[in-house]
Amino acid sequence: MSDTVLNQFAPPVEEEDIIDIKEKLKFGIVGTGWIAEAHVESLKQMPDVEIVAGADLVEGKAEKFFKRYGVPNVRCYPDHKAMLEAEDLDAVCVCTYNTTHAQCTIDSLKKGVNVLLEKPMCVTIEEAADIIRAEKESGKLLSIGFQPRMDDNMKMIKKIVQSGELGKIYYIQTGGGRRRGIPNSTFIEKKTAGIGALGDIGCYSLDMVLNAIDYPKPLTVSGYKSNFFGTNPKYNNPQDAARFDVDDFAAAFIRLEGDIVLDFRISWAMHLDTPGDTIILGTEGALRIPSTECWNGSVGGPMKLYKDLAGQQVEVEIPLCHDDSSGGLFYKKLRSFADAIRNKAEAPVPTSQIFYNQAILDGIMKSAQLGREIEIVLPQI
Ligand SMILES: NC(=O)c1ccc[n+]([C@@H]2O[C@H](COP(=O)([O-])OP(=O)(O)OC[C@H]3O[C@@H](n4cnc5c(N)ncnc54)[C@H](O)[C@@H]3O)[C@@H](O)[C@H]2O)c1
Repeated sequence: MSDTVLNQFAPPVEEEDIIDIKEKLKFGIVGTGWIAEAHVESLKQMPDVEIVAGADLVEGKAEKFFKRYGVPNVRCYPDHKAMLEAEDLDAVCVCTYNTTHAQCTIDSLKKGVNVLLEKPMCVTIEEAADIIRAEKESGKLLSIGFQPRMDDNMKMIKKIVQSGELGKIYYIQTGGGRRRGIPNSTFIEKKTAGIGALGDIGCYSLDMVLNAIDYPKPLTVSGYKSNFFGTNPKYNNPQDAARFDVDDFAAAFIRLEGDIVLDFRISWAMHLDTPGDTIILGTEGALRIPSTECWNGSVGGPMKLYKDLAGQQVEVEIPLCHDDSSGGLFYKKLRSFADAIRNKAEAPVPTSQIFYNQAILDGIMKSAQLGREIEIVLPQI
């Protein structure tokens, strides 16, 4: 393969932005649980950002949280509504469990506040539509918290696909998961999580490949879900097994606009190390992206590009990109959101794309319940 072709796949060089620190952006944190830590630790590094408020439903939790992470003078509230009522914020990070994503986001947008919403966007496609309506009416910025998007290896997947080296894409296999890796806490009950492995890590696998092919519209889905491990005290802590009522495994066959099919599976627990690598088949080449044992939105090893070259079948290894820039993916997720507010730019991860991600998650749940293939009907926005 020529140097010109290979050079297209070199890691992008990022330029340092110059940040105006005169006017600090005032941030509020909604939900001070586990993931809020990563948000706060990232925001603390930004000289142009100030965390002024926080809210949590559990009495005293927000106060303890900000004390633990060394953020002084944060005003704390018993829920997101009280915080929005009392404060004049530029932005909020919605770090609540999935079932309150929609309400917290819609209320914030209606108050004229920009939102960084944790993944998955929400639980149902109807909620996603309500969120997008509120976003459009408010004219505010809403970005969905998919930090793997900031990873150079993820960007490389998109660059390879968009370079045309693979030709027309017609088949994708993606997913991944863990042999044993069932979370606990608020992740395993419908009333807080709404969806299990499908929403927790399935949304990442879908985003990795759908972003690479510019998010075509999903048309039909035949989905399956089960929870043989989460509900079984042999494989899960007995107290958690007793309250476990979401999926721990899901699989689906999805048809996308442009005559592309997507074969998907995801797992929090199974009797296997991995349900397979991600593969993207095109008319001129194919890409293999090794799965990670513990799917967390990263690439498991060097990718391989398969092509015919001068009549020979060749394989090219794409070396893993190692990001030496400071901050990590969470910092980049928060920084890109703050920059987009400042520059009145597009959302780094826009709802126009993640609407289709949510439509697939929702379609898998509905199809699995009915036990047959369904058409994906998207609500009017
Ligand atoms: N991007 C990532 O890598 C990543 C990793 C883990 C979790 N997450 C996502 O982050 C979200 C939160 O996960 P977590 O593990 O921190 O959950 P958690 O249960 O530890 O924390 C959520 C908190 O939100 C609070 N809350 C719920 N509704 C609220 C409301 N209306 N107002 C104020 N507080 C409210 C709860 O009381 C709870 O303390 C989930 O959607 C999850 O999918 C993302």
